[in-house]
Amino acid sequence: MTQTLTLRRPDDWHLHLRDGAMLAAVARHSAGFGRAIIMPNLVPPVVTGAQAAAYRDRIRAALPEDAALEPQMTLYLTDTTDPADVVAAFRAGIIRAVKLYPAGATTNSASGVTDFARVQPVLEAMAEAGVTLCVHGEVTAHEVDIFDREAVFIDTILDPLRRRTPGLRVVMEHITTREGVAYARSGGDDLAATITTHHLVINRNAILAGGIRPHYYCLPVAKREEHRLALREAATSGEGRFFLGTDSAPHADSAKLQPCGCAGCFTAPNTMSTLAQVFEDEGALDRLEAFTSLNGAAFYRLPPNEDRITLTRRDSPAEYPARIEAGGETVTVFDPGFPLYWHLEDK
Ligand code: NCD
Ligand code: ZN
Repeated sequence: MTQTLTLRRPDDWHLHLRDGAMLAAVARHSAGFGRAIIMPNLVPPVVTGAQAAAYRDRIRAALPEDAALEPQMTLYLTDTTDPADVVAAFRAGIIRAVKLYPAGATTNSASGVTDFARVQPVLEAMAEAGVTLCVHGEVTAHEVDIFDREAVFIDTILDPLRRRTPGLRVVMEHITTREGVAYARSGGDDLAATITTHHLVINRNAILAGGIRPHYYCLPVAKREEHRLALREAATSGEGRFFLGTDSAPHADSAKLQPCGCAGCFTAPNTMSTLAQVFEDEGALDRLEAFTSLNGAAFYRLPPNEDRITLTRRDSPAEYPARIEAGGETVTVFDPGFPLYWHLEDK
């Protein structure tokens, strides 16, 4: 029996598109989203409004002519970020948000924040102007176990930061724990959280049990099953504070399949089909649109997209490439581990 689902066009509130040959290869896989928050962790990172505008233009040039995607740019917060540049770029419509990476937290985060006292004037200017802070919520101290880094970050960094900066709008990016879900729920309408596709699907066994599987390694790393279940409950709850940020993060296989391989799951090509399956399994297909197409826009004070997409449930699984080519390298596409019966129809 075919079943059809029509949704307002989804948005992706956390996306890595990279630059150069990788951008050219991956851009079209996100072209069907209406808007996407573009992560600034290039090498070197996007730190000024002028750099964000130039990167936005490179993304537009890499997208197919008929792409729906309107890139929403971000600046990479550093110890030396200029509050006036942030506010000017926001008011000029160049950036939608600022991204906080604690120094050393993840791929290309060497320039992240080392001293929170130094960025306090930027945070205060952002609170005043209504600029959202997107937070990579992990501490980087070596003595903290990697599976505890999100919960420790919330207690020692995020909560004090929010208390000393009233009015700052914060998105907890890619939450991975029940502590993340609980903290997001403890806030008012100035606090929200994105959830990725892959963290709804895998727990840490996918990475480590029966052999090491680098394509499931991302940061924050997937946690125990109880945490995956907490994320599924949050994502399918319909609550406005939870919305999709895929964190689709392509890396060449040659960089992932190493003794020290990099973090990131490339989920862009099959994200909507995977999410439809997750929401069906949770008996929550009627709440998929809130998660993918309504809640994030509302948090960012934007109207939802006017046009619609259609997903059709067929008897035969949707096909997607196991890997794509990018600049002479291959990039492996996320394998959810189950067939994808929900087909995303062409526009
Ligand atoms: C991201 C990347 O590769 O840029 N990797 C990841 O595992 N998610 C960085 C990030 O968002 O932390
Ligand atoms: Zn990311």
